Amino acid sequence: MQRRHGMPLRVNEREIFVTDNKIIRFTAQAGGSLKGQIRVPGDKSISHRSIMLGSIAEGVTEINGFLEGEDSMATLKAFRAMGVAIEGPKDGKVTVHGVGLHGLKAPSEPLDLGNSGTSMRLLSGLLAGQAFDVEVVGDHSLMSRPMRRVTEPLAKMGAQIGATEKGTAPLKITGGQALQGISYVMPVASAQVKSCLLLAGLYASGRTCVQEPAPTRDHTERMLSGMGYPVSSQGGKVCLEGGGRLTATTIDVPADISSAAFFLVGASIAPGSDLLLEHVGINPTRTGVLEILKMMGADIEMLHQREVGGEPVADLRVRSAQLHGIDIPLAQVPLAIDEFPVLFIAAACAQGRTLLTGAAELRVKESDRIQVMADGLQALGIQAEPTEDGMMIHGGRLSAGRVDSKGDHRIAMSFAMAALRAQGPISIDDCANVNTSFPGFVELASAVGLSITTE
Ligand code: S3P
Repeated sequence: MQRRHGMPLRVNEREIFVTDNKIIRFTAQAGGSLKGQIRVPGDKSISHRSIMLGSIAEGVTEINGFLEGEDSMATLKAFRAMGVAIEGPKDGKVTVHGVGLHGLKAPSEPLDLGNSGTSMRLLSGLLAGQAFDVEVVGDHSLMSRPMRRVTEPLAKMGAQIGATEKGTAPLKITGGQALQGISYVMPVASAQVKSCLLLAGLYASGRTCVQEPAPTRDHTERMLSGMGYPVSSQGGKVCLEGGGRLTATTIDVPADISSAAFFLVGASIAPGSDLLLEHVGINPTRTGVLEILKMMGADIEMLHQREVGGEPVADLRVRSAQLHGIDIPLAQVPLAIDEFPVLFIAAACAQGRTLLTGAAELRVKESDRIQVMADGLQALGIQAEPTEDGMMIHGGRLSAGRVDSKGDHRIAMSFAMAALRAQGPISIDDCANVNTSFPGFVELASAVGLSITTE
């Protein structure tokens, strides 16, 4: 059951109904195994970018496999509000009638980006280059997330963006600024910051370069190239020249490895499992979860590797295995940044201890994923010791219990999978946001053997 209390949040004398107060509780029964063949929904990062770049391209972009989740829909609605004709989504198909780099129109009200950090950070760059003023807002979680990481470098490019004193949204972006290309060394490895600056760079005079301290997902660069926009990438430095054109194309969105991750871990920890995950995106900037699980002893086979629309794809077969604890290599951290909640569940089911360091970013995701996961694991009897930038987890026996996901989609799905190895049912509070990235999670997980209900 889904309830909306409709708690209004005041933004500029207007009331926006925040979407983060729907209450859904999952209860997952203990035991079972995962078997069968499934395709999880489309990649969230690629879905966002397909709408953004399709909208500012010239011509009609056809998208297949689009993620019909709340986050990517927030992006889609934002572009509709800026005058782009977008058909669908219907069965994952979306048609975007691109308006060109300078064809967007001022929206009549602030753009509400819900829970989606990717929408807000990428859009702030793209919107900084428009001729009109615009304001962007979101739900309680998004309005608490740090935005200086984008507003500061954008200001160096000449953008005018107002934020709260804490550097959070609402962001008020003043249009009509003449942006200048910059060369920016990112202090944190963030694909959102890199993509934001590249999108602003499309509108800037001269060259925009972003140097990343470690490799991060490169979907923006790949899609820009696929649309005929020259992007150079060498030694962790990505550059483009402003003032070019994007040409519409066809985009095939692979299944999201971040959504597949719940099943990779679930099938690894549940004895007797044998699961095939079809058409999963295996872009090397996203496969940290595979490397980490393999180091822990997981049995994962990559079958039928192919390239679809500029992105590598494979079917992943996963069978249960006894996992063991490891020290997670620092280099894998940005490549698995969204998968740590479920990797913590793998660690809780492993023999020995697992240590994660260098992942302070987890504290500023949709929730503080270090604290919220540590609280949940401890409530289930696992020795989990949070640190500033990671966690030490001692593998053990998961007990039955009740945990709070704090409205974080990935935490909710991670604890649902934990039930496969628990001694009794696990109930998880505040799960409505699972719909931001994985609509149909409960049905799909049930279809392959997880006994899960919602109330
Ligand atoms: C994303 C980048 C990552 C990731 C997020 C999606 C993207 O964030 O956590 O879920 O689509 O660019 P950071 O770039 O902030 O690490």
